Amino acid sequence: MASIIVTGAAGFIGFHACRRLVADGWSVTGVDCFNAYYDPALKRGRAEALQAEFGIAVRDLDIADDAALKALVLKLRPDRILHLAAQAGVRYGFDHPFEYEHSNLKGHLSVLEAARALGDGLGHLVYASSSSVYGEREGPFKESDPVDHPASLYAATKRAGEMMTESYVSLFGLPATGLRFFTVYGPWGRPDMAYFKFAEAIMEGRKLPLFDSGRGRRDFTYVDDVVECLARICADAPARKSHRIFNIGGSNPRPTTDLVKALESSLGRSAQIEHLPPQPGDVSLTYADTSALETAYAYKPVVKLEDGIARFADWYLGWRGEKARSLAG
Ligand SMILES: NC(=O)c1ccc[n+]([C@@H]2O[C@H](COP(=O)([O-])OP(=O)(O)OC[C@H]3O[C@@H](n4cnc5c(N)ncnc54)[C@H](O)[C@@H]3O)[C@@H](O)[C@H]2O)c1
Repeated sequence: MASIIVTGAAGFIGFHACRRLVADGWSVTGVDCFNAYYDPALKRGRAEALQAEFGIAVRDLDIADDAALKALVLKLRPDRILHLAAQAGVRYGFDHPFEYEHSNLKGHLSVLEAARALGDGLGHLVYASSSSVYGEREGPFKESDPVDHPASLYAATKRAGEMMTESYVSLFGLPATGLRFFTVYGPWGRPDMAYFKFAEAIMEGRKLPLFDSGRGRRDFTYVDDVVECLARICADAPARKSHRIFNIGGSNPRPTTDLVKALESSLGRSAQIEHLPPQPGDVSLTYADTSALETAYAYKPVVKLEDGIARFADWYLGWRGEKARSLAG
C-alpha cells in the first residue's frame, strides 16, 4: 500500500483530504500541532473522527521542529507528502506576524528538508499555496501572472513557500506541485472565515459586519471539489526536477452578498447587516483561471455556492447543537 504524510491533517482541508486518501487506498499519517489560532476543540474533533472512522493517527508535531519532522519522515519513508499545515488568515498577521514566519517560512523549509532527505524515494511533494499571492488585480488569474505585489504578510509567506520550493526542485530534483486554493468552504470548516462567522452571527441574532458593503467578489470553492483535485494530483508521480503550480478555484466569482443570501436561505433566518468600509489586506476580487488544472487533471470544480452552503449549513447546525448540549451537560 502506498503511503502519504499529510501535514495540517487536523485542519479543515487536511481533514477532508485524509478521509478521501484513505478511501483511495493510501496509508495515511497525519501531522498537526493543534495550535489555538481557532478553537483547538474543532481540530481535536476532526482528529478524533479521523481516528475513529478511518484509523488515521494525527501526530501532535510542529512542522517547524525540523529535527522531529525529518525523524518522522525518515522513519515512515512515505511515497508522497501532502503539505497543508500553515498559519492561514490575512488579518491575524497584523498582530501575530511571527506565527507566519514560524509555520509558513520555517515550517515550509522543514518540509522541504524532510522531502529532500527522502531523495528518489519521494514520488511527489504536493503543497498548499494561496490565491492571495495574486494581490489586487483584474481576473481571471492565471498561474503565469506576475505575483510580486502581495496585499498581506500571509500572501507574502505563501509566495515565499513557492519560491523556496522552486529552489529545492532546482537544487535537489524534488518533484513538487503547489496549489493556489481559492476561498475553500464546507462542513467542518474554519471558524475564522467569513462564511462561518456569518453563520454564527445569523444564528445568534448578532449584526453581520459586511465589509465594502459585500461588493468584494470571491471565487468560492467547495471542499469536495478541492479534495477531488488533491486526490488526482497526489496519485500522480511527475518527473523529478518538476515544479508546477495550479489554481484550484470555482472559476465563478460571486459577491459576498450572494454568500449572505445563500446562508439566510439554508439557515432559514435573516441576517442583520452592518455595512462597513473595505478592510486593509482584503482584495476586491479573486477569480481562478483553471484551464491548466483541467488540461493536466481533467477536472474543474463543479459545486454551486448555494448547494455547497446548504451542505455546510446542515453540518453547522448539527455541530452547533452538539456544542450547546455538551456545554449544558
Ligand atoms: N481554506 C482556504 O480557503 C484556503 C485558501 C487558500 C490557501 N489555503 C491553504 O490551505 C492549507 C490548509 O488550509 P485550511 O483551510 O485547512 O486551514 P486550517 O487552519 O484549518 O488548517 C491548517 C492546519 O495546520 C496546522 N498547523 C499550523 N501551523 C502548524 C505547524 N507549525 N505545525 C503543525 N501544524 C500546523 C493547524 O493547527 C491547522 O490544523 C493552508 O496551507 C492554507 O494556507 C486555504
